[in-house]
Amino acid sequence: MAGGTQTNNFNDTPTQLRLAVIGAGYWGPNIIRNFFDNRECDLVAVCDRDAKRLSQLPAQIQRQVTLLDDASRVFEDSSIDAVAIVTDIDSHRVLAEAALTAGKHVFVEKPLATSAEDCLFLGKLSQQVKKHLMVGHTFIYNPAVAHLKQTISKPDFGETLYLHAQRLNLGRLQVRVNALWSLAVHDVAIALELFDELPSSVSATGHAYILPGVEDVTFVSLHFPSGKMAHIHTSWLDPQKRRQVTVVGSRQMVVYDDVSLDQKIVIYDKGIDKVLKDGSKPEFQNFSEFQYLIRTGDMHIPHISFTEPLKVETQHFIDCALGRHPKPKTGWEEGCQVVSVLEAAQVSLQKGGIPVQIQYLLGEKVS
Ligand SMILES: NC(=O)c1ccc[n+]([C@@H]2O[C@H](COP(=O)([O-])OP(=O)(O)OC[C@H]3O[C@@H](n4cnc5c(N)ncnc54)[C@H](O)[C@@H]3O)[C@@H](O)[C@H]2O)c1
Repeated sequence: MAGGTQTNNFNDTPTQLRLAVIGAGYWGPNIIRNFFDNRECDLVAVCDRDAKRLSQLPAQIQRQVTLLDDASRVFEDSSIDAVAIVTDIDSHRVLAEAALTAGKHVFVEKPLATSAEDCLFLGKLSQQVKKHLMVGHTFIYNPAVAHLKQTISKPDFGETLYLHAQRLNLGRLQVRVNALWSLAVHDVAIALELFDELPSSVSATGHAYILPGVEDVTFVSLHFPSGKMAHIHTSWLDPQKRRQVTVVGSRQMVVYDDVSLDQKIVIYDKGIDKVLKDGSKPEFQNFSEFQYLIRTGDMHIPHISFTEPLKVETQHFIDCALGRHPKPKTGWEEGCQVVSVLEAAQVSLQKGGIPVQIQYLLGEKVS
Protein backbone atom coordinates (compact mmCIF):
# COMPACT_ATOMS: atom_id res chain seq x y z
CA MET A 1 0.00 0.00 0.00
CA ALA A 2 1.87 3.04 -1.21
CA GLY A 3 1.22 6.74 -0.67
CA GLY A 4 -0.01 8.66 2.35
CA THR A 5 -2.79 10.88 3.56
CA GLN A 6 -3.80 13.65 1.11
CA THR A 7 -3.57 17.15 2.54
CA ASN A 8 -4.63 20.57 1.24
CA ASN A 9 -1.91 23.00 0.16
CA PHE A 10 -2.24 25.46 3.01
CA ASN A 11 -1.97 23.94 6.44
CA ASP A 12 -1.38 20.23 6.01
CA THR A 13 -4.85 19.42 7.33
CA PRO A 14 -5.70 16.01 5.85
CA THR A 15 -8.50 16.16 3.27
CA GLN A 16 -8.85 12.43 2.82
CA LEU A 17 -8.74 9.65 5.35
CA ARG A 18 -6.85 6.45 4.55
CA LEU A 19 -8.92 3.73 6.14
CA ALA A 20 -9.07 -0.06 6.51
CA VAL A 21 -12.10 -2.15 7.48
CA ILE A 22 -11.65 -5.36 9.49
CA GLY A 23 -14.60 -7.76 9.20
CA ALA A 24 -16.50 -8.47 5.98
CA GLY A 25 -19.18 -10.80 7.34
CA TYR A 26 -22.90 -10.04 7.43
CA TRP A 27 -22.66 -6.35 8.43
CA GLY A 28 -19.15 -5.46 7.18
CA PRO A 29 -20.17 -4.97 3.50
CA ASN A 30 -22.56 -2.14 4.53
CA ILE A 31 -19.78 -0.28 6.31
CA ILE A 32 -17.32 -1.06 3.50
CA ARG A 33 -19.73 0.31 0.85
CA ASN A 34 -20.25 3.56 2.73
CA PHE A 35 -16.54 4.23 3.24
CA PHE A 36 -15.77 3.13 -0.35
CA ASP A 37 -18.38 5.55 -1.75
CA ASN A 38 -17.22 8.51 0.35
CA ARG A 39 -14.87 10.80 -1.57
CA GLU A 40 -13.23 11.99 1.63
CA CYS A 41 -12.17 8.45 2.40
CA ASP A 42 -9.58 6.31 0.67
CA LEU A 43 -10.56 2.75 1.52
CA VAL A 44 -7.17 1.12 1.15
CA ALA A 45 -7.73 -2.31 2.71
CA VAL A 46 -10.40 -4.76 3.79
CA CYS A 47 -9.37 -7.58 6.10
CA ASP A 48 -11.19 -10.77 7.00
CA ARG A 49 -9.60 -14.00 8.16
CA ASP A 50 -12.24 -15.87 6.18
CA ALA A 51 -11.17 -15.70 2.52
CA LYS A 52 -14.69 -16.63 1.35
CA ARG A 53 -16.06 -13.40 2.85
CA LEU A 54 -13.51 -11.36 0.89
CA SER A 55 -14.35 -13.21 -2.33
CA GLN A 56 -18.03 -12.23 -1.89
CA LEU A 57 -17.31 -8.47 -1.89
CA PRO A 58 -18.40 -6.51 -4.99
CA ALA A 59 -15.96 -6.94 -7.91
CA GLN A 60 -15.08 -3.22 -8.00
CA ILE A 61 -13.99 -3.31 -4.34
CA GLN A 62 -12.01 -6.51 -4.89
CA ARG A 63 -10.20 -4.79 -7.80
CA GLN A 64 -9.46 -1.45 -6.12
CA VAL A 65 -8.84 -2.36 -2.49
CA THR A 66 -6.09 -4.49 -0.93
CA LEU A 67 -7.62 -7.64 0.56
CA LEU A 68 -5.93 -9.06 3.66
CA ASP A 69 -6.51 -12.08 5.86
CA ASP A 70 -4.39 -10.92 8.81
CA ALA A 71 -5.33 -7.82 10.79
CA SER A 72 -1.74 -7.28 11.97
CA ARG A 73 -0.90 -6.16 8.41
CA VAL A 74 -3.36 -3.28 8.86
CA PHE A 75 -1.84 -2.22 12.18
CA GLU A 76 1.72 -2.38 10.79
CA ASP A 77 0.91 -0.08 7.86
CA SER A 78 1.77 3.42 9.03
CA SER A 79 0.07 4.98 5.98
CA ILE A 80 -3.34 3.87 7.33
CA ASP A 81 -4.92 6.60 9.47
CA ALA A 82 -8.05 4.86 10.68
CA VAL A 83 -9.57 1.43 11.17
CA ALA A 84 -13.22 0.32 11.27
CA ILE A 85 -13.79 -2.88 13.26
CA VAL A 86 -16.86 -4.83 12.15
CA THR A 87 -16.09 -8.21 13.68
CA ASP A 88 -17.77 -10.44 16.27
CA ILE A 89 -18.17 -8.57 19.53
CA ASP A 90 -15.77 -10.85 21.46
CA SER A 91 -12.92 -9.57 19.30
CA HIS A 92 -13.63 -5.82 19.62
CA ARG A 93 -11.40 -5.17 22.64
CA VAL A 94 -8.30 -6.93 21.25
CA LEU A 95 -8.58 -5.43 17.76
CA ALA A 96 -9.41 -1.91 18.98
CA GLU A 97 -6.49 -2.02 21.44
CA ALA A 98 -4.10 -3.06 18.67
CA ALA A 99 -5.40 -0.36 16.31
CA LEU A 100 -5.17 2.42 18.91
CA THR A 101 -1.71 1.28 20.00
CA ALA A 102 -0.67 1.49 16.34
CA GLY A 103 -1.84 5.13 16.33
CA LYS A 104 -5.06 4.79 14.31
CA HIS A 105 -8.44 6.44 14.81
CA VAL A 106 -10.88 3.62 15.52
CA PHE A 107 -14.53 2.99 14.69
CA VAL A 108 -16.02 -0.10 16.41
CA GLU A 109 -19.40 -1.59 15.62
CA LYS A 110 -21.90 -1.85 18.47
CA PRO A 111 -21.50 -2.82 21.23
CA LEU A 112 -18.11 -1.23 21.92
CA ALA A 113 -16.96 -4.26 23.93
CA THR A 114 -18.36 -7.05 26.08
CA SER A 115 -17.73 -5.30 29.43
CA ALA A 116 -17.75 -1.73 30.68
CA GLU A 117 -14.26 -2.36 32.05
CA ASP A 118 -12.99 -3.08 28.54
CA CYS A 119 -14.79 0.03 27.21
CA LEU A 120 -13.10 2.17 29.86
CA PHE A 121 -9.73 0.60 29.09
CA LEU A 122 -10.12 1.40 25.39
CA GLY A 123 -11.40 4.90 26.16
CA LYS A 124 -8.40 5.72 28.33
CA LEU A 125 -6.07 4.28 25.71
CA SER A 126 -7.65 6.47 23.02
CA GLN A 127 -7.04 9.51 25.24
CA GLN A 128 -3.41 8.52 25.81
CA VAL A 129 -2.70 8.09 22.10
CA LYS A 130 -4.90 11.11 21.20
CA LYS A 131 -7.01 9.23 18.67
CA HIS A 132 -10.77 9.11 18.29
CA LEU A 133 -12.67 6.02 19.39
CA MET A 134 -16.22 5.92 18.07
CA VAL A 135 -18.88 3.24 18.52
CA GLY A 136 -21.43 2.42 15.80
CA HIS A 137 -24.68 3.19 17.62
CA THR A 138 -26.28 3.40 14.18
CA PHE A 139 -29.72 4.63 15.22
CA ILE A 140 -28.29 7.77 16.80
CA TYR A 141 -27.40 8.78 13.22
CA ASN A 142 -30.89 8.00 11.94
CA PRO A 143 -32.67 11.25 10.92
CA ALA A 144 -35.99 9.84 12.26
CA VAL A 145 -34.47 9.35 15.73
CA ALA A 146 -33.14 12.91 15.59
CA HIS A 147 -36.67 14.07 14.70
CA LEU A 148 -38.10 11.99 17.54
CA LYS A 149 -35.73 13.69 19.97
CA GLN A 150 -36.71 17.14 18.65
CA THR A 151 -40.41 16.27 18.97
CA ILE A 152 -40.22 15.21 22.60
CA SER A 153 -38.07 18.24 23.49
CA LYS A 154 -40.80 20.71 22.44
CA PRO A 155 -43.10 22.24 25.09
CA ASP A 156 -46.15 20.94 23.12
CA PHE A 157 -45.12 17.38 23.98
CA GLY A 158 -45.32 18.06 27.71
CA GLU A 159 -43.31 16.00 30.15
CA THR A 160 -41.81 12.80 28.72
CA LEU A 161 -43.23 9.91 30.75
CA TYR A 162 -42.11 6.56 29.29
CA LEU A 163 -41.20 4.71 26.11
CA HIS A 164 -41.61 1.23 24.78
CA ALA A 165 -39.66 -0.28 21.94
CA GLN A 166 -40.06 -3.39 19.84
CA ARG A 167 -37.34 -4.87 17.64
CA LEU A 168 -38.80 -8.10 16.32
CA ASN A 169 -38.42 -10.36 13.29
CA LEU A 170 -38.21 -14.00 12.26
CA GLY A 171 -34.39 -14.32 12.09
CA ARG A 172 -31.55 -13.52 11.64
CA LEU A 173 -30.76 -16.34 14.07
CA GLN A 174 -27.60 -15.65 16.08
CA VAL A 175 -25.49 -18.38 17.61
CA ARG A 176 -22.87 -16.49 19.63
CA VAL A 177 -24.71 -13.49 20.96
CA ASN A 178 -28.16 -13.21 22.51
CA ALA A 179 -30.99 -10.82 21.59
CA LEU A 180 -29.93 -8.46 24.38
CA TRP A 181 -26.42 -7.82 23.02
CA SER A 182 -27.43 -8.11 19.38
CA LEU A 183 -30.77 -6.20 19.27
CA ALA A 184 -31.61 -4.46 22.56
CA VAL A 185 -28.27 -2.63 22.37
CA HIS A 186 -29.86 -0.38 19.69
CA ASP A 187 -32.88 0.53 21.83
CA VAL A 188 -30.82 1.08 24.98
CA ALA A 189 -28.72 3.56 22.98
CA ILE A 190 -31.93 5.23 21.68
CA ALA A 191 -33.47 5.44 25.18
CA LEU A 192 -30.35 7.04 26.68
CA GLU A 193 -30.19 9.50 23.79
CA LEU A 194 -33.89 10.45 24.03
CA PHE A 195 -34.10 10.75 27.81
CA ASP A 196 -30.66 12.33 28.21
CA GLU A 197 -30.51 10.54 31.52
CA LEU A 198 -28.88 7.32 32.71
CA PRO A 199 -31.12 4.55 34.07
CA SER A 200 -30.40 3.55 37.66
CA SER A 201 -31.68 -0.03 37.50
CA VAL A 202 -32.75 -2.67 35.01
CA SER A 203 -34.72 -5.86 35.06
CA ALA A 204 -34.66 -8.33 32.20
CA THR A 205 -36.33 -11.60 31.40
CA GLY A 206 -35.97 -13.78 28.35
CA HIS A 207 -35.68 -17.29 27.05
CA ALA A 208 -33.55 -19.40 24.74
CA TYR A 209 -36.10 -21.27 22.63
CA ILE A 210 -33.93 -22.28 19.68
CA LEU A 211 -30.31 -22.65 20.80
CA PRO A 212 -29.56 -23.57 24.42
CA GLY A 213 -27.98 -20.63 26.28
CA VAL A 214 -28.68 -18.00 23.59
CA GLU A 215 -31.79 -16.00 24.53
CA ASP A 216 -33.74 -15.26 21.34
CA VAL A 217 -36.45 -13.29 23.17
CA THR A 218 -35.81 -10.63 25.82
CA PHE A 219 -37.95 -8.11 27.71
CA VAL A 220 -35.91 -5.35 29.35
CA SER A 221 -37.21 -2.62 31.69
CA LEU A 222 -35.06 0.39 32.46
CA HIS A 223 -35.88 2.63 35.41
CA PHE A 224 -34.63 6.22 35.43
CA PRO A 225 -34.09 8.42 38.52
CA SER A 226 -36.67 10.95 37.21
CA GLY A 227 -39.38 8.26 37.19
CA LYS A 228 -39.26 7.66 33.44
CA MET A 229 -39.34 4.06 32.22
CA ALA A 230 -38.22 2.34 29.05
CA HIS A 231 -39.46 -1.11 28.11
CA ILE A 232 -37.68 -2.94 25.30
CA HIS A 233 -38.91 -6.14 23.64
CA THR A 234 -36.50 -7.88 21.29
CA SER A 235 -36.81 -11.17 19.44
CA TRP A 236 -35.71 -12.99 16.32
CA LEU A 237 -38.54 -15.46 16.87
CA ASP A 238 -41.56 -13.38 15.90
CA PRO A 239 -43.92 -13.52 12.90
CA GLN A 240 -43.69 -9.79 12.15
CA LYS A 241 -40.82 -7.49 11.34
CA ARG A 242 -41.31 -4.61 13.72
CA ARG A 243 -38.96 -1.81 14.73
CA GLN A 244 -40.97 0.67 16.67
CA VAL A 245 -40.44 3.13 19.49
CA THR A 246 -43.45 4.78 21.15
CA VAL A 247 -42.81 7.72 23.47
CA VAL A 248 -45.64 8.91 25.70
CA GLY A 249 -45.68 12.48 26.96
CA SER A 250 -48.07 14.32 29.25
CA ARG A 251 -49.60 16.25 26.30
CA GLN A 252 -48.68 14.29 23.14
CA MET A 253 -47.55 10.83 22.08
CA VAL A 254 -45.27 9.87 19.22
CA VAL A 255 -44.58 6.64 17.34
CA TYR A 256 -41.36 6.10 15.40
CA ASP A 257 -41.76 3.24 12.94
CA ASP A 258 -38.44 2.40 11.33
CA VAL A 259 -40.03 -0.08 8.92
CA SER A 260 -42.52 2.40 7.45
CA LEU A 261 -41.40 4.13 4.27
CA ASP A 262 -43.58 7.24 4.48
CA GLN A 263 -44.75 7.45 8.11
CA LYS A 264 -41.56 7.06 10.10
CA ILE A 265 -42.81 9.52 12.72
CA VAL A 266 -46.45 10.02 13.70
CA ILE A 267 -47.26 12.56 16.40
CA TYR A 268 -50.60 12.09 18.19
CA ASP A 269 -52.21 15.02 19.91
CA LYS A 270 -53.67 12.67 22.50
CA GLY A 271 -53.63 12.66 26.25
CA ILE A 272 -55.63 12.69 29.44
CA ASP A 273 -56.45 16.20 30.66
CA LYS A 274 -57.51 17.29 34.12
CA VAL A 275 -60.39 19.76 33.66
CA LEU A 276 -62.75 21.64 35.96
CA LYS A 277 -66.29 20.31 36.26
CA ASP A 278 -67.95 23.73 35.89
CA GLY A 279 -65.45 24.80 33.26
CA SER A 280 -65.11 28.26 34.73
CA LYS A 281 -62.45 28.40 37.41
CA PRO A 282 -58.78 28.61 36.43
CA GLU A 283 -57.68 26.76 39.60
CA PHE A 284 -59.37 23.87 41.35
CA GLN A 285 -59.43 23.62 45.12
CA ASN A 286 -60.20 19.98 45.78
CA PHE A 287 -60.74 16.62 44.12
CA SER A 288 -64.49 17.01 43.64
CA GLU A 289 -64.00 20.05 41.40
CA PHE A 290 -62.19 18.38 38.49
CA GLN A 291 -62.47 15.37 36.24
CA TYR A 292 -60.25 13.57 33.76
CA LEU A 293 -61.06 13.83 30.06
CA ILE A 294 -59.54 11.76 27.30
CA ARG A 295 -58.37 14.07 24.51
CA THR A 296 -58.05 12.62 21.02
CA GLY A 297 -56.86 15.36 18.70
CA ASP A 298 -55.09 15.42 15.33
CA MET A 299 -52.32 13.20 14.04
CA HIS A 300 -49.32 14.85 12.43
CA ILE A 301 -46.90 13.11 10.06
CA PRO A 302 -43.85 15.33 9.59
CA HIS A 303 -41.79 15.11 6.44
CA ILE A 304 -38.34 13.73 7.20
CA SER A 305 -35.64 14.06 4.59
CA PHE A 306 -34.05 10.70 4.94
CA THR A 307 -30.37 9.90 4.46
CA GLU A 308 -29.01 6.41 5.05
CA PRO A 309 -27.96 6.38 8.74
CA LEU A 310 -24.74 4.52 7.91
CA LYS A 311 -23.82 7.30 5.49
CA VAL A 312 -24.32 9.87 8.25
CA GLU A 313 -22.46 7.70 10.75
CA THR A 314 -19.43 6.98 8.54
CA GLN A 315 -19.25 10.66 7.47
CA HIS A 316 -19.25 11.65 11.16
CA PHE A 317 -16.32 9.31 11.84
CA ILE A 318 -14.42 10.77 8.88
CA ASP A 319 -15.19 14.32 10.11
CA CYS A 320 -13.88 13.46 13.58
CA ALA A 321 -10.72 11.84 12.24
CA LEU A 322 -10.08 14.81 9.92
CA GLY A 323 -10.27 17.13 12.91
CA ARG A 324 -13.68 18.72 12.27
CA HIS A 325 -15.22 17.63 15.59
CA PRO A 326 -13.59 17.53 19.01
CA LYS A 327 -15.20 14.17 19.78
CA PRO A 328 -17.64 11.69 18.24
CA LYS A 329 -21.32 11.95 19.09
CA THR A 330 -21.17 8.27 20.04
CA GLY A 331 -17.74 8.10 21.60
CA TRP A 332 -16.34 5.58 24.05
CA GLU A 333 -18.20 7.20 26.97
CA GLU A 334 -21.58 6.53 25.32
CA GLY A 335 -20.36 3.05 24.35
CA CYS A 336 -19.39 2.41 27.97
CA GLN A 337 -22.76 3.59 29.30
CA VAL A 338 -24.71 1.32 26.96
CA VAL A 339 -22.50 -1.67 27.82
CA SER A 340 -22.94 -0.93 31.57
CA VAL A 341 -26.72 -1.20 31.06
CA LEU A 342 -26.37 -4.42 29.03
CA GLU A 343 -24.09 -6.01 31.63
CA ALA A 344 -26.60 -5.30 34.42
CA ALA A 345 -29.45 -6.55 32.20
CA GLN A 346 -27.53 -9.78 31.56
CA VAL A 347 -27.18 -10.33 35.34
CA SER A 348 -30.92 -9.72 35.79
CA LEU A 349 -31.69 -12.11 32.92
CA GLN A 350 -29.64 -14.84 34.57
CA LYS A 351 -31.35 -14.21 37.93
CA GLY A 352 -34.89 -14.48 36.60
CA GLY A 353 -35.60 -10.76 36.16
CA ILE A 354 -34.70 -9.29 39.56
CA PRO A 355 -33.97 -5.53 39.42
CA VAL A 356 -30.21 -4.90 39.22
CA GLN A 357 -28.60 -1.55 40.03
CA ILE A 358 -26.46 -0.32 37.13
CA GLN A 359 -22.85 0.52 38.00
CA TYR A 360 -21.36 3.18 35.73
CA LEU A 361 -17.60 3.42 35.55
CA LEU A 362 -17.84 6.99 34.31
CA GLY A 363 -20.47 8.72 36.44
CA GLU A 364 -22.75 11.16 34.66
CA LYS A 365 -23.25 11.36 30.90
CA VAL A 366 -20.30 13.14 29.34
CA SER A 367 -21.50 15.85 26.99
N1 LIG B 1 -25.31 -1.42 13.37
C1 LIG B 1 -26.07 -2.43 13.03
O1 LIG B 1 -27.25 -2.28 12.71
C2 LIG B 1 -25.48 -3.82 13.02
C3 LIG B 1 -26.17 -4.87 12.42
C4 LIG B 1 -25.58 -6.13 12.44
C5 LIG B 1 -24.35 -6.32 13.07
N2 LIG B 1 -23.73 -5.27 13.66
C6 LIG B 1 -22.44 -5.47 14.36
O2 LIG B 1 -21.42 -5.73 13.40
C7 LIG B 1 -20.43 -6.58 13.99
C8 LIG B 1 -20.24 -7.80 13.10
O3 LIG B 1 -21.45 -8.53 13.08
P1 LIG B 1 -21.78 -9.53 11.89
O4 LIG B 1 -23.19 -9.92 12.07
O5 LIG B 1 -21.32 -8.97 10.59
O6 LIG B 1 -20.83 -10.77 12.27
P2 LIG B 1 -20.30 -11.89 11.27
O7 LIG B 1 -19.90 -13.05 12.13
O8 LIG B 1 -21.25 -12.13 10.16
O9 LIG B 1 -18.99 -11.25 10.63
C9 LIG B 1 -17.83 -11.00 11.36
C10 LIG B 1 -16.64 -11.15 10.41
O10 LIG B 1 -15.47 -10.76 11.11
C11 LIG B 1 -14.41 -11.66 10.74
N3 LIG B 1 -13.40 -11.62 11.81
C12 LIG B 1 -13.60 -11.90 13.14
N4 LIG B 1 -12.46 -11.72 13.82
C13 LIG B 1 -11.51 -11.34 12.92
C14 LIG B 1 -10.13 -11.02 13.02
N5 LIG B 1 -9.47 -11.05 14.19
N6 LIG B 1 -9.48 -10.66 11.89
C15 LIG B 1 -10.12 -10.62 10.70
N7 LIG B 1 -11.43 -10.92 10.54
C16 LIG B 1 -12.11 -11.28 11.64
C17 LIG B 1 -15.09 -13.00 10.60
O11 LIG B 1 -14.33 -13.88 9.77
C18 LIG B 1 -16.42 -12.61 9.96
O12 LIG B 1 -16.38 -12.65 8.55
C19 LIG B 1 -20.91 -6.90 15.41
O13 LIG B 1 -20.32 -5.99 16.29
C20 LIG B 1 -22.42 -6.63 15.32
O14 LIG B 1 -22.98 -6.28 16.57
C21 LIG B 1 -24.26 -4.03 13.62
